[in-house]
Amino acid sequence: MSRTDRPRILTGDQPTGRLHIGHWVGSLENRVRLQDQYDCYFLIANMHAFTTRAEHPEAIRRDTLDLAKDWLAAGIDPERSTLVLQTAIPAIAELTWFLAMLLPVNRVLRNPTLRAELDAKQLGDAYSFGFPLYTVGQCADILAFRAQLVPVGADQAAHVEMCREVARRFDHVYCGVPPGTADAEHERAGGVFPVPEALIGRVGRLVGIDGVRKMSKSMDNAIYLSDTAAQIRAKVARLYTGRQAMTDPGDIANPLFQYVRAFLGEPERIRALEDRYARGDQLGDGAVKAEVAAALDALVAPMRERRAAYDGPRGDAMILEILRAHAARANEVANETLARARAAMQLAL
Ligand code: TRP
Repeated sequence: MSRTDRPRILTGDQPTGRLHIGHWVGSLENRVRLQDQYDCYFLIANMHAFTTRAEHPEAIRRDTLDLAKDWLAAGIDPERSTLVLQTAIPAIAELTWFLAMLLPVNRVLRNPTLRAELDAKQLGDAYSFGFPLYTVGQCADILAFRAQLVPVGADQAAHVEMCREVARRFDHVYCGVPPGTADAEHERAGGVFPVPEALIGRVGRLVGIDGVRKMSKSMDNAIYLSDTAAQIRAKVARLYTGRQAMTDPGDIANPLFQYVRAFLGEPERIRALEDRYARGDQLGDGAVKAEVAAALDALVAPMRERRAAYDGPRGDAMILEILRAHAARANEVANETLARARAAMQLAL
């Protein structure tokens, strides 16, 4: 099956800094894995970055290029998949307007992910008009590519749910798709949009190396995909378990064992370690940490290697070339969607 006959994936990240191992288990590994089965579009949400950092265009540009490098390093293959720079796709902005008309403002403001972000950033009511609008924009990102599948971390599920609602509503209002039509039948029933499904990653929330909060760049508790072996070892060594001796019965719900389960891979090995740790059978934290650090290094070593190609003086130029070529490909799909949406809305001239 040629690439363009496959069902489509659209997903993305905001450019906010380097990617870490929480991103990997939260969604990135799914994206890398699904590149052969789907026609994949991976979106750099640089417009969204402006909703909170409008005064820092240079930083956003830097983070945009870094995100693309991190993706390619992680195994996103520019020969098989399409990188989408959000601001290079005008159809997304126009579609955002159309969709905004189909969503009650209170529905948008109730979005739990949006609420959590407002709380976390302690913005009070001092946020930009564009900030809540990004959630509608995210629906447009997905629908512009008529994606069936959206691989995301658990924190993004609420956005995909809102996208599903607005897709159903558009198809009903403008395409005559009867209410109650099964989600999978929308396109066959004449809808412009498929009702997309979220694919949530295998680890919803990876704890950071502080052992308490979710791993994130802003909390300074992250192990980056670009870290060296020594950095990884030092960070894993910092993980606090509170355990004193290797004969103490250990708590396998602790952060260290969350990493064991997330990164060791072999179920047999994981069970053996859990068993010995829980019984306090001569298994010290140091030995477990060494195994976790080795597994993490094995995961990111090939990424470091691929990344080296883009770290040279021509790195930025190489990325920009890819983004330009891919934008042309992405615009073909998004413009086709927009033409269909406009026709359904009786806007064709
Ligand atoms: N909001 C997402 C994040 O912060 C990024 C994003 C933008 C996205 N548009 C998207 C994710 C469309 C999935 C689909 O991680």
